[in-house]
Amino acid sequence: MGNEQMKLREIEIRILKALSKSKGEMKISDLERETELDHIALIRTSAWLSEKALVKQKETQRAYAELLKEGYEYADKELPERSLLNTIVKLGGSATLSQLSRETNLSGKDLNIALGWIRSKKWAKFKKQDGETLLQVKETPPLGIDEELLTVLRDKGEIEVSQLPSEKRKIIDSLQKRNLIRIRQETIRSLILTEEGTRLIQSGVGVSEEVSNLTSDLIKSGNWREIVLRKYDVEAPVKAAYPGKIHPVIALINEIREIFLNLGFTEIRGPFVESAFWNFDALFQPQDHPAREMHDTFYLKFPKTAKLPNKKMVQKVSRTHEDGWETGSTGWGYKWSTNIARQTILRTHTTATTIRYLAAHPDPPIKVFSVDRVYRNEKLDYKHLAEFFQIEGIVVDENVTLRDLMGTLTEFYKRLGFEKVQFWPSYFPYTEPSLQSTVYVEEFGWIELCGMGIFRPEVTIPFGVKVPVLAWGGGFERLAMLRLDLEDIRDLYKNDLGWIKRTPTVF
Ligand code: PHE
Repeated sequence: MGNEQMKLREIEIRILKALSKSKGEMKISDLERETELDHIALIRTSAWLSEKALVKQKETQRAYAELLKEGYEYADKELPERSLLNTIVKLGGSATLSQLSRETNLSGKDLNIALGWIRSKKWAKFKKQDGETLLQVKETPPLGIDEELLTVLRDKGEIEVSQLPSEKRKIIDSLQKRNLIRIRQETIRSLILTEEGTRLIQSGVGVSEEVSNLTSDLIKSGNWREIVLRKYDVEAPVKAAYPGKIHPVIALINEIREIFLNLGFTEIRGPFVESAFWNFDALFQPQDHPAREMHDTFYLKFPKTAKLPNKKMVQKVSRTHEDGWETGSTGWGYKWSTNIARQTILRTHTTATTIRYLAAHPDPPIKVFSVDRVYRNEKLDYKHLAEFFQIEGIVVDENVTLRDLMGTLTEFYKRLGFEKVQFWPSYFPYTEPSLQSTVYVEEFGWIELCGMGIFRPEVTIPFGVKVPVLAWGGGFERLAMLRLDLEDIRDLYKNDLGWIKRTPTVF
């Protein structure tokens, strides 16, 4: 830059001055305190300064040792080898293994660990005597470096590893291998004044202030002629702005809706609280079907029973279960119970909503879908939730076939971004034939997505449906996890604000 006058803002000068006061180098965190700039402003200004070659940015890695749980316990008491050693000393300086296991209050696992360390620290002599191992201790060894370090760590909370002499660093390694401590890496960012920066600040050059806001005062007074206006730097780091937006899960549901709507489907919805009738019976699932049991289905206490549809409809379903009625089936051959059908439950699948709809609209053509909540009594873990979404739909028309079903889903998955789709034979009580669909995802391989098939006559005939019904239904969350790059299903609904803010709504 030579002697040419450098244009600096007041905050840039503040940083340069702070740096020169502390020997030309300062940690960002200290600078923040010293200059009273917020972090973002400081980072942005540092970027300007380093572009002008007045400062350099430096990153140093520091390693800190910290105690782990077991380390704390040992630091509070003593290492197991020390405890065992004390037992030997108490027993007169020598003891057999069986004596020791009786006398020590170490657990079996700790006893083995203690023996191993006593041997490698050479605290005792191991001798064979009458088929027994005897441990002999001459004198109590002084506290080892490992024991000292544990105490220091307990008192100080952490030790910076690079500050330690090499023999202590070796012990830190071995404590880490013993799982008593862990090493935390920290990156420390600092700014260093360059020669150029030093010169500038020492010469006290007439740093002239740049103005970033042209105010009406500046214009009226004519002072705008004297000032230097700061140029825009569109790449300068700024505070991230998070406008209001749709939750990522809802955004994906909307995308799925859009796909089905574009394929000519209409969205349907149904109640969360269902009767067993619509959830199971109408779908020809026998009343002793294992899926109805408590471990899968949430049964309601209040209200305990639901209203069933008109008698005729119920009768057709019940006859179909008992002897097949006019469906051409022999039925399940048991006595159907109205009371079981009237039980109230949280729907376990959205197929309940589909069949409800079909019973009310038996005439083709029909193309409807739903993306809606279902409930199952599942233990929660990274793969399972007790309430989740299903993507469901049917196509009802004169001449539709299994090919149309596979075609529809292939198209749906393709529009969602999955190119490779496969179908496998499967089983559901209400479809024949039944299929399972899988899509191929680069990192994971083949992933099961939804079940499907053609509704059996036992399902369609009681409701007066005389043409084929192509039906499918399956998990939404797995798709969402793939889309949002999550490994734990619970993260979808944790509503971690940071995650919601960072996740783009347009994928
Ligand atoms: N209801 C089935 C499930 O929850 C999916 C399915 C829907 C299968 C429609 C066939 C037809 O897994």
